[in-house]
Order: sequence, then C-alpha cells, then structure tokens
Amino acid sequence: MSETWTVLIVGSGGREHALSHAYEKSPRVGKIIVTPGNDFMQWNRKKETIVDKNSKLNDAQSILAIAQKYKPDIVDVAQDDALAAGTVDLLQKNGFSTFGPTKNAARLEWDKKWSREFMTRNKIPTPEYRYFSDRNEAKKYVNATYQKKPNTLLYIKATGLCAGKGALKTTNKNEAYANIDAMKNFGEAGKVFLIEEGIVGEEFSYYAISDGKNYNLFQSARDHKTVFDGDEGAQTGGMGTVSPARITKGNEQTIEEKQIRPVIEGMLGEGNQYVGIVYLGGILSNGKINTIEYNSRWGDPEAQVVVPGIQNDYAEMVWACIHGELEKIKLVQDDKTRVCVVGASKGYPGDYSSVKGKQILGLEEATKMNGVTIFGAGMAQKEGKWVANGGRLFNVVGEGKDVNEARMRAYDAIKKISIEGNNLHYRKDIALREIPL
Ligand code: GLY
Repeated sequence: MSETWTVLIVGSGGREHALSHAYEKSPRVGKIIVTPGNDFMQWNRKKETIVDKNSKLNDAQSILAIAQKYKPDIVDVAQDDALAAGTVDLLQKNGFSTFGPTKNAARLEWDKKWSREFMTRNKIPTPEYRYFSDRNEAKKYVNATYQKKPNTLLYIKATGLCAGKGALKTTNKNEAYANIDAMKNFGEAGKVFLIEEGIVGEEFSYYAISDGKNYNLFQSARDHKTVFDGDEGAQTGGMGTVSPARITKGNEQTIEEKQIRPVIEGMLGEGNQYVGIVYLGGILSNGKINTIEYNSRWGDPEAQVVVPGIQNDYAEMVWACIHGELEKIKLVQDDKTRVCVVGASKGYPGDYSSVKGKQILGLEEATKMNGVTIFGAGMAQKEGKWVANGGRLFNVVGEGKDVNEARMRAYDAIKKISIEGNNLHYRKDIALREIPL
C-alpha cells in the first residue's frame, strides 16, 4: 500500500460527488478516481481527482479494468446497477479491497420480491403484498380487491431496478389495469411485479454503514420523489432532500430495532453477510412505522445531505467495514440541517432531449456562496462551458443551523443558476413541510 490511499468510487451522480468530498477530507487519502463520473467532479478540487469515463455501471468487467489501471487501495461501489452486476464480487476476487454488498447481499434492492420475503422472514414491518408474472392473474386480483373496497390505495411495483421510477400509485381498477400493463415497459425488471398495499403517511429514509456484524446509523433524510411541487406529477429519482427528517424524531429507537438491526442480523443469519450501506425507505402512518423498501447503497440525492454531516474520517470508516472492524469506530455527526434542491432539465423525467448540450450558467458564482455546496450529476464540460447532459443535472446543497437557514441558502444559490432558453426546472417546495408550524 502507498503512503496515502487512492480511492476509486464507482458511480456518476451527485451521490458519488458527495462521497468524493468525504474521502477528500480524509488525511489518509491522496488521490480519488471516479468512474464513470461526471466532469464537474474534477472541478475545484483540493486533491488530485480523476474522472475516468471508460466504464459502464452494469458491466463489472469494465470497472475491473479501471481498478487494474489505477490500483486503488479502496474501491467504493456506490451505485445500484454496479452492485447488481456483481462488481463487488469480481473486484474482491481480483484482490481489491472493495466496499459494498456482494451481488447476493445487494438482492435486498435488485429483487424486490426477494426483499419483501426477507422482511417477512425476519419480522420486519411490511405492507401486505402479492407478486405476479401473469398480467391476467394480476388483473383478476385487483378486480376482486376493488370490488370489495373501491378506491383502495395500491402500488404496482416492478421487482427489478428502475432508477426509482418502478412503483406506480394506483387508486382504482382502470388505473390498476393500466399500471399492470405498464410493467412490460420495464423489460426484465417488470417481468415479475408486486402488488402492494399502499400506506398513507410521512416518508423518511435512514442509512446504516455495516461491516456485516456491527453497524452505525446515520442521520435520517426525506426525499421529494415527484417532479412538481405539492408531490404532483411523475416519479423521479428524487428532486430534493432534507436531513434530518423531522418526523423521525422520537422514533429513532423503534426504527433501529425493527428496521435496521434485523437487516444486518437477518442477512448474517442467512449466510449473506451485508457489508456496505443499508438504505431504509420507511413510512410513518398513524404513529406506526412501515417499510417501503430497502436499497443497497446511499440514496441520491439523500447522500448529498447526510454524508457532509459525518465528522469521522470516512475512508477509515469504510476501511474498518471492509476489515470487519467497525466496532472500533464511534460515529460522530454534526448538528446542522442540510437541504438539497435538484436542478433538472425541463421535461425530465419525460423527454428532455432538446435540453442536451445547452449551457448551464451561474454555477461558479453559486458555488462561492456561504454554506452552499454544488454536486454535479448529468452535466458535462464542453469548450470550457458547463452543459446539460442528462435529466437530473446538479444538486445545490444549503446548510444551516436549522431548516429555514439551510433552505434559504439552497434557494438563494439555485436562483443564480439558469440554462439557456429557460430550460432549468426545480421544485420550489423542498423541505417546506419540515418547517415547524
Ligand atoms: N432518492 C431515491 C433513491 O436513491 O433511490
């Protein structure tokens, strides 16, 4: 091992950019590689940071080739497709110290049927669910459900990975039929689908880091999943976040006992030791917790508001997990509130192709504002200019002593940013519900 560590981060969005800042803060880390990354990650860095685009997230061999090129001391596989592709298994087999769940352990996310069955086996709160591969059988089931109880809230959910867009809200028979038919649009991921009881309540998420036996629980967060204000419009990968989430206050212990510890212990007990980040998507309904889903990595854009609050040396914490020594590390987090507002191409999550290549203005000015950090996602640098290169483009994070200050900083900063032709979209109500009445 060299005197300072080289860290390779696998992923390309704001989450990986936020992780690269956490690694950069570690005195142990000398160099950071991100693959496939995005151009903004290389800009304005304190330590050598290389973006190597020569990998595909669903192609573990291409990521192995990057690892062989840079010989990192730590590889952090932070992205879901890469985990589902067995990247951790392949890199470990080739001798790399790799952080993240193996393909079998990451099944918690990439096979939502298996995940629900795991919750049932391990007595983790879960809504009622059924699974189907035959769409006619599924229609018979919803027909009977709506006959018994019209307007029942259901979610029809692809069991594979769908970039956060695979759960379709359903409130009547016609919608249910259309959503069952829509499962074919998800290809392999929608071949088997779940029909789940919809829970009405306040959503939250929690993140734990684990070495397979021990874990540390980070601050809670809250995502804003739909594209428009007031939770209207289509589902997205996430339009903004806040941490901590007010509604988790007072429920921390129950959540840990019922929804976090049983995952680490259940996985270990089933011979599927879970090393990596566990992401709990939870919901609080009439004072009771329930589970929407588990994911096998940090949320995006939740990492952008939780990771900056970690005061420990993140590289050391990850190293301890890889070596089964997390119990030696006591987690320290700051007490700031952070709000992240996602800047997206107008049209996202639908067709935003006309925005590709348009210039993003004002980023550098916004970055200089007090208490503001900007993480890049679907953007690129062309002839010295920042241009749109995806749906979710960048994340503006404001931090402050409370939610009012954090929100004000994030929104003051994003107001400085525009895309030529008035092509920037962002929600105006991120974290609004967090403000105490
Ligand atoms: N923000 C939701 C996710 O990362 O899955």
